[in-house]
Amino acid sequence: MKHKILEAYETIAYNYDNLIDHKPHNAYYDRPSTLALLGEVKDKDVLDAACGPGKYAEILLAQGARVTGFDLSPTMVQLAQKRNPEKGTFFIQDLSEPFIPIKTASFDKIVCALAMGYIENWDNTIQEFCRVLRPKGELVISTQHPFFDYQYYTSDQYFALENVSCVWNGFGKPIEMHTYRRPLQEYIIPIVNNGFYIDQLTEPKPVEAFKILDAKHYEELNDFPSFMGIKAIKR
Ligand SMILES: C[S@@+](CC[C@H](N)C(=O)[O-])C[C@H]1O[C@@H](n2cnc3c(N)ncnc32)[C@H](O)[C@@H]1O
Repeated sequence: MKHKILEAYETIAYNYDNLIDHKPHNAYYDRPSTLALLGEVKDKDVLDAACGPGKYAEILLAQGARVTGFDLSPTMVQLAQKRNPEKGTFFIQDLSEPFIPIKTASFDKIVCALAMGYIENWDNTIQEFCRVLRPKGELVISTQHPFFDYQYYTSDQYFALENVSCVWNGFGKPIEMHTYRRPLQEYIIPIVNNGFYIDQLTEPKPVEAFKILDAKHYEELNDFPSFMGIKAIKR
């Protein structure tokens, strides 16, 4: 499954980078709520885990953070560095493997946006997030909403961890994207069992700019969430 996800992101990386500034689900739905959860970052060491083409990093650097980013996709890592020339540090790293290049207790905050759905077993990743955060460090995750996924993938086994896929049409030629669908408790248990307490859980709504670009999905997202945000604090 991982190689399919990697291949998909390698295929769409340039289009993703070209669109990310204003793609409604990212720019006007995910990012406003995730950045609000992340809060003040000036003079903080922030890890952008699964950074994609470095849009979060760009915003956080502009806000005065010191940013390190990593991603599974080599092309995404190149694009992140290109977007943030001579600023930030970006390297290839799999979320589900030990973060060997990263020292223990070296970050104040971690943002992991729209990527944990690609990880089958969250325990190892959350343990690594905990290890690289300083005491009382903050972890902010945005991810698919479990109730949305349950409906969208027409599952009839709510409690199962399922390998699901759908076709993305928004980044050039249609591409099959694989992900894991899981119940709500499988978002919470790995976080609280691996060194964190949950500070906030959010169900964002799109901001007004979304409506101008895509009125249909703006209405839908106001009626039913597609993403969920979690802010966890290292105990
Ligand atoms: C939807 S994009 C989000 C990118 C970025 N966080 C953002 O919100 O702009 C998901 C990213 O997760 C990365 N990814 C998928 N599986 C991964 C893994 N196992 N380890 C690290 N990154 C992964 C993909 O390459 C892709 O760049």
